[in-house]
Amino acid sequence: MDVQRKKRSWAEPYKIKVVEPLKVTTREERQRALTEAGYNTFLLRSEDVYIDLLTDSGTNAMSDYQWAGMMLGDEAYAGSRNFYHLEEAVQKYYGYKYLVPTHQGRGAEHIISQILIKPGMFVPGNMYFTTTRLHQELAGGTFVDVIIDEAHDPANEHPFKGNVDLNKLEALVKRVGADKIPYITIGVTVNMAGGQPVSMENLRAVRQFCQKHKIRVILDATRAVENAYFIQARENGYQLKSIAGILKEMCSYSDGATMSGKKDLLVNIGGFLALNDWDVFEEARNMVVVYEGLHTYGGLAGRDMEAMARGIEESVQQDHIRARIGQIEYVGEKLRAAGVPIVLPVGGHAIFLDAKRFLPHVKQVEFPAQTLAAELYLESGIRSMERGIVSAGRNKETGDHYYPKLELVRLTFPRRVYTQAHCDVTVEAVEEVFDRRSSIKGLKMVYEPKYLRFFQARFERLA
Ligand code: F0G
Repeated sequence: MDVQRKKRSWAEPYKIKVVEPLKVTTREERQRALTEAGYNTFLLRSEDVYIDLLTDSGTNAMSDYQWAGMMLGDEAYAGSRNFYHLEEAVQKYYGYKYLVPTHQGRGAEHIISQILIKPGMFVPGNMYFTTTRLHQELAGGTFVDVIIDEAHDPANEHPFKGNVDLNKLEALVKRVGADKIPYITIGVTVNMAGGQPVSMENLRAVRQFCQKHKIRVILDATRAVENAYFIQARENGYQLKSIAGILKEMCSYSDGATMSGKKDLLVNIGGFLALNDWDVFEEARNMVVVYEGLHTYGGLAGRDMEAMARGIEESVQQDHIRARIGQIEYVGEKLRAAGVPIVLPVGGHAIFLDAKRFLPHVKQVEFPAQTLAAELYLESGIRSMERGIVSAGRNKETGDHYYPKLELVRLTFPRRVYTQAHCDVTVEAVEEVFDRRSSIKGLKMVYEPKYLRFFQARFERLA
């Protein structure tokens, strides 16, 4: 790698060819919008949002190369040429043998869960992700968190907070037996922990352990390229390796992967299930025609598959990933300097405000992270997302809330969308809310849907 270049700024490695105007609203307009949305940022209209940091999912800007690929969509029902491009790209960069396209990540999670999990089984994972865990539960499985303890501590600066704790995994095997564990899900990076990476050493160790016990390893490869960047930056022996090389080595320690292409892969829609095992692939190919579409399109248009194939190529470019993570680090450093409590170290796709420390006077049952996300919108028109007790949902046995240790607000950066000036405005807005934090009151939930409640729940301000 070019050492000289490392010292320079992460400046966006692209120039802007098409623009979309942003709308600035007044505080009165925002209060009206927030009330209408039941204090849930998922229920705001995009039109009423100034800088949208709700998610990095499907919100990426595509390149001219990807847009050109959209015109080459082969919209045949069966055997589209774009499917074969995508298959080649997945084989080349991720190294898996077989590909089943899906409409997005949860489509792949649904299929793998239904195939491998039987009622009464246990599925360990390095912290849960909302849709992943729900599909495991709907298949009759019980999720078991085996992430290292450091991940639950927002101030702990462990460089690989996403790592699996092998002692926890071993304890689970002893408790329930390896035959009750169809696979382990490893998120790279771990979204709910703050976009935290897993080290190569840990992936290798998990692989070894699981091979011994005949447990499959399934990666949630949604942000695997971001994980590869952290390995390059932080792990001994990887500084001179390419992102593509690191990515492929990561995948080599697994039997398959679910993918939400809407993140790393720089597209607006799409996902896949990738597998090495022919038998599992055969079943997946059978199921996909029931739930998603024929096995050569899986719910996607040909043009979407082409854009994703091209996005894979672009995602592993060093300049791209360095600027991508550089932008997040830039915001993180400014907030840290201002004394705003955030999850450290700063992760791959977002800054996570620590709502427990930001609003210590708001009890967890008064939804501190939900409250903070609402206040930030009211202050500035910036939209963020709750990742705390609302997202955690309820325990299906006891009916009580899950009480996660982390109560976070996620400022998630879409790839290639916002500039450094937008980053500055975001920091200023968070600081303004921080300055008046002691006067902020919590919320009560007035409507709660049965599944994935955070999407549609409604709240009112406590008097
Ligand atoms: N796995 C991870 C780690 C994710 O972050 C997501 C989506 C999924 C799976 C599901 O993929 O949305 O394509 O069905 N995360 C989005 C987010 C929604 O905002 O973090 P999907």
